[in-house]
Amino acid sequence: MKITVIGAGYVGLVTAVCLAEVGHEVLCAKKTTRNLDKLRNGISPIYELGLTEMLQSNLKRGRIEFTTDMEKAVEFSDVIFICVGTPSNQKGEADLDQVFEVSRSVAEHMDRYKLLIEKSTVPVNTHQKIEKIMSSITDIEFEVASNPEFLSEGNSVHNFMHPHRIVVGVASERARKIFQEIYEPFTSEGYPLLFSDVASAEIIKYASNAFLAIKISYINMIADLCEKTGANIDYVSRGVGLDHRIGDKFLDAGLGYGGSCLPKDVNALIETYQEYQLDNGLLVETRKINQQRREKFYEDIMEALEKVDGKTITIWGLAFKPNTDDIRAAPAVDIVQKLKESGAKLKLYDPQAKENFSRKIPEEGNITYYQDKYEALEDSDALVIITDWKEFEEPDMDKIKELMNSPNIFDGRNILDKELMAQKEFNYYSMGR
Ligand SMILES: NC(=O)c1ccc[n+]([C@@H]2O[C@H](COP(=O)([O-])OP(=O)(O)OC[C@H]3O[C@@H](n4cnc5c(N)ncnc54)[C@H](O)[C@@H]3O)[C@@H](O)[C@H]2O)c1
Repeated sequence: MKITVIGAGYVGLVTAVCLAEVGHEVLCAKKTTRNLDKLRNGISPIYELGLTEMLQSNLKRGRIEFTTDMEKAVEFSDVIFICVGTPSNQKGEADLDQVFEVSRSVAEHMDRYKLLIEKSTVPVNTHQKIEKIMSSITDIEFEVASNPEFLSEGNSVHNFMHPHRIVVGVASERARKIFQEIYEPFTSEGYPLLFSDVASAEIIKYASNAFLAIKISYINMIADLCEKTGANIDYVSRGVGLDHRIGDKFLDAGLGYGGSCLPKDVNALIETYQEYQLDNGLLVETRKINQQRREKFYEDIMEALEKVDGKTITIWGLAFKPNTDDIRAAPAVDIVQKLKESGAKLKLYDPQAKENFSRKIPEEGNITYYQDKYEALEDSDALVIITDWKEFEEPDMDKIKELMNSPNIFDGRNILDKELMAQKEFNYYSMGR
């Protein structure tokens, strides 16, 4: 099937490449020419496991193309996936400007039926607003459907190719049939395709993300109790997570959630509840607990080091989670900023996110970026671990001790072995243990 994908960010590019991989003919439309040549030459501008290889093989097969020409993109196919950003606005609501701009543009260029698919995360009943905008521009028949994306950055190609479920909200039999054809390569492998009405599909995305955020804040709340009482959150998490009704995922205590989705989707859902005059207390508390994790961690560092001004602190991990270069709403942004303001000399290391992070907090004066995690530790007074990259799990502790000025470790992700840290005589601080 011929498919147009609008937006070539994390979701757009992965959607476009994976739909080509299963045999569709895809045209992916970008807003600007930035990275256009790279994409056409098979270089993915974002870091995702397996994405570059899959992009290259589908370019070779002639199944994927990139354009900035919206008219061409609309003409190309009757099926148009909207994969543009829906960031938080000042109030916390989902800013739908990019979605509406695309809708307007489709309406202006279309000359026959189109199925517009919301893959971007949008609040309930956004489809009605899109319909209104488009109807004011065109008389040609169109439909708006919802097909929220559940991929998780760092593993997104695998997630797309092996989905837990594909959720689709449609209003007609015609749209349902189109989706059956799009996702046939997945349903024939046994992956579940769930149809609903459009509003329900829009809500499913927010309900899923908010649930994950609540789970993380909940375990962090329990971690505080562990810390106060001398219990260990590792045992508690395991004991709770073995209950199959609860499950062990998203039960790791630490610095809480970040990234481009959970914080903004919780914010947007809080605003939606407000709009419909419903009680949003559970969501507000979830957000508050999450923000407090970063503040508490920073205060623990300040308290333990007594005077931070003039001290050298090494940071391991800048990405909001492992296996990605994404730093949007990452805990590291807040923590590094605060440590910088307190006068510490900072040595930063991350396997993938250095470039993105240095755009936000540039190398200058007291901020230096390193290519090697051990080199970043030379003469350091403290090691602060913010992202749980696999390579931080079992580092050479003897080497670390030799390199550092003082053996202080602040582990924001509980990835080091507490007993080993005691044995090796580190001053070791973790969360809820
Ligand atoms: N990143 C994730 O893990 C994830 C997962 C599930 C859902 N989502 C949702 O998917 C949507 C996109 O997220 P993302 O992370 O891919 O964002 P992103 O910022 O990486 O990508 C959005 C892209 O849309 C492009 N764009 C904006 N207006 C455009 C236009 N008129 N024409 C063509 N391109 C245009 C932007 O240039 C940008 O490259 C959001 O609603 C997000 O909530 C994201």
